[in-house]
Amino acid sequence: MIAIRQIHPVFVGEVSGVDISKPLSPEEVAAIDDGMNRHAVLVFHDQSLTDEQQIAFTVNFGTLETARGGNITKPEERRLQPGMADVSNIRKDGALHERESRQRLFNLGNMLWHSDSSYRAVPAKYSLLSARVVNPRGGNTEFADMRAAYEALDAATKAEIEGLICEHSLLYSRGSLGQEDFTDDERAMFKPVRQRLVRTHPVTGRKSLYLSSHAGKIIGMPTPEARVLLRDLTEHATQPAFVYAHVWRPGDFVMWDNQRTMHRVRRYDESQPRDMRRTTLAGSAPTTAQV
Ligand code: OGA
Ligand code: MN
Repeated sequence: MIAIRQIHPVFVGEVSGVDISKPLSPEEVAAIDDGMNRHAVLVFHDQSLTDEQQIAFTVNFGTLETARGGNITKPEERRLQPGMADVSNIRKDGALHERESRQRLFNLGNMLWHSDSSYRAVPAKYSLLSARVVNPRGGNTEFADMRAAYEALDAATKAEIEGLICEHSLLYSRGSLGQEDFTDDERAMFKPVRQRLVRTHPVTGRKSLYLSSHAGKIIGMPTPEARVLLRDLTEHATQPAFVYAHVWRPGDFVMWDNQRTMHRVRRYDESQPRDMRRTTLAGSAPTTAQV
């Protein structure tokens, strides 16, 4: 029997009583779906998965996001099959990335608060991350509840931001770390998309802030003013009361709703491996019209 216990004051459920490497019953799928609507992040322990089993579990909850355009890795340098996002520090040949590796530097962007694929016109629904090799030092993944963050805003701020539309791009998140060495092809691939700043959950009706380090502009607002507002909102949304830090154990599996949470990974010992593999579910529609 699946049981879900909330392990943080405002969100995050810990799931027990299910082996996710096996096909799920409709009742199990419904319980996990309901748990996601309620808690926005679900933690599973002691799950040993192959990539195929991870993909099979993932597609119980939607359509796998397989679109390219999320990174600068050349197809021939990919370690994992299409549909598996590689957020490890490991190269295809098994060695660890060099310090100056462009791919490593690009992946450091995951250390900024973000929502997966917010730089896509149809951004991601859920992400599912499996810990295959846990790093010995650091590497916690932190999550912030953007529903609780929205609800804690004062009325004037809620009114001010209600209809705002942001531009998101990997060029903004990487640019904020000083990574600017993108080719014309990469710049074309990372063309900004529009996302609304306040989203409403289709099932629960709860509103949430839709922030991400990929957000770099607000339509109709001077850029420095927009960046100050986005920074202020991000600071508010990531205060300790709204944040859960996941300390990984081997066999942990975490799924989160990108539509109402942000996350980031903390620095870790890059002389040692950290093998983390993500599957992602595509959202069903843009959050606003595109230009
Ligand atoms: C991700 C990500 C977090 C981590 O998989 O989307 O941001 O802990 N990674 O590696
Ligand atoms: Mn991410």
